[in-house]
Amino acid sequence: MRHLIDPTDLTTNEVEELMNRAIDIIGHPARYAEVCHGKKLATLFYEPSTRTRLSFTSAMMELGGQVLGFSDARSSSVSKGETVADTVRVVSCFADIIAMRHYKEGAPRVASEFSRIPIINAGDGGHSHPTQTLTDLLTIRRELGHFDHLTIGLCGDLKYGRTVHSLIKAMNRYDGTRFVLISPPELRLPDYMKHELYVDGKPDFVEVNTLEEAMPMLDVLYMTRVQQERFADLSEYERLKDSFILDEERMRLGKESMIVLHPLPRVNEITTGVDKDRRAAYFRQVENGKFVRMALIYTLLQWKEEERKGETPDVGRYDMICSNDRCITATEPVERKFYKDKDGVLRCHYCDHAV
Ligand code: CP
Repeated sequence: MRHLIDPTDLTTNEVEELMNRAIDIIGHPARYAEVCHGKKLATLFYEPSTRTRLSFTSAMMELGGQVLGFSDARSSSVSKGETVADTVRVVSCFADIIAMRHYKEGAPRVASEFSRIPIINAGDGGHSHPTQTLTDLLTIRRELGHFDHLTIGLCGDLKYGRTVHSLIKAMNRYDGTRFVLISPPELRLPDYMKHELYVDGKPDFVEVNTLEEAMPMLDVLYMTRVQQERFADLSEYERLKDSFILDEERMRLGKESMIVLHPLPRVNEITTGVDKDRRAAYFRQVENGKFVRMALIYTLLQWKEEERKGETPDVGRYDMICSNDRCITATEPVERKFYKDKDGVLRCHYCDHAV
């Protein structure tokens, strides 16, 4: 059975299939109005959300299906100590597909190993957010028309910004993608993501200190907020939160054809004055999120009926533990599994941290 836990769970051909499906949905919504009649989506949200949860809900409704779930783990039996594994075993009895957001990295991966129905990762800690990436890809496709030979600036919190990690993994598969990383030193891309961007042992990306340096190079500027909820020390958050602010003056340095994306919510990293610039695509991006989630729900349910299989991860069991305290294995009794990356580094199957 197919799940969506990591953006690379989909081949580039399958991404193309999903993009085409989403565009068909936009053009012909009536064709899809009943395709999920009688099906139920469970939204299990252990962390706050506006866009992701509501766009999943709206997507399933527009496909003619129904939605159940929780938006606050305190109102579920999780508050009594129920594990992710047991929760999904139970919800598999009530629904046809699950969208899960969790503060622990790797929780949706664990869910996929115990579920009888498809699991969609709706964001796990600072790790990954593959449906945001599908949203970003649909926006790039609709705004720019292609994925090849794009220079993408990633700005803000690259350490905890899960949307950045997923977008890098997805876009790194297309010809000629160049990444420009713009962040304070304390919020640089983690090592397990940087290694994705090394070719023959050398970094295949540019790191700059200012937005001004990056702006003229970019086809896509991907802004992110500094993730307050991931900081143990709030004074550190206060010190870093305003490191990069996109305003009208800096927009003047960008190409006419550039687009600005942001997964939202924004705090103050983009001034509201930028919103009226036609290159500001972040609210159009939100709407694309509903269409691409409609395409994803429809497709995963179809693949389940067809019994379409994906690749089985090549993992081993070693007598060691993951050192990432944000990993689901730190708090739940999960079988420890590891894999070797392309450089031979052993990494946790659930959160990708090196051990
Ligand atoms: N982009 C995004 O994930 O937003 P929410 O946290 O509101 O779902």
